[in-house]
Amino acid sequence: MSIVTWSDEYNVNVEKIDKQHRHLLQLVNELHSAVEERFDKEELRKMLIGLTEFTRTHFATEEQLMSKHDYPNQQAHFREHRMLLRHLGDLVTAVSNGKYPTFYSDYDVSTDWALVHINEYDKPLGDFLNEIE
Ligand SMILES: [Fe+2]
Ligand SMILES: [Fe+2]
Repeated sequence: MSIVTWSDEYNVNVEKIDKQHRHLLQLVNELHSAVEERFDKEELRKMLIGLTEFTRTHFATEEQLMSKHDYPNQQAHFREHRMLLRHLGDLVTAVSNGKYPTFYSDYDVSTDWALVHINEYDKPLGDFLNEIE
C-alpha cells in the first residue's frame, strides 16, 4: 500500500524539482511497502541508503538553484535540508545497528517529512523561481 500519494497540489511548477519530488515519494512508498512485507533487513538498509542518497542529490539541485539566483530564504532552507539529512543518516545508522525500520516510531522513516518540506519550503522557492524566470 502506498503511504504517500502524489497530488498535483504538491507541484512547485519547476519541472526538474517536481520530477525529483515524484521520484522521492516513489522511493518512500517502495520502502514502506518493503517494511510492510517484512523484507530482509539488509535489503531495507540498501533501500534506505538509496532514499538518503537520492534525497541528498535532490537537495543539492535545489541548493544550486537557490545559490545561483540568490534566493533570500536560502539559509533557513539549507538548514532544513541539513536537518532532514541528519535524520536520514541517523536512521541508516539505527538500521545498520540492527533496528528494523518502521514508519511510526523513533526510528521512523518519517512519511510526511517530504510533503511538509515541499509545502513549507519548496513551494515558496518554486514561486520565487517562477517569478524571476
Ligand atoms: Fe527543499
Ligand atoms: Fe524538495
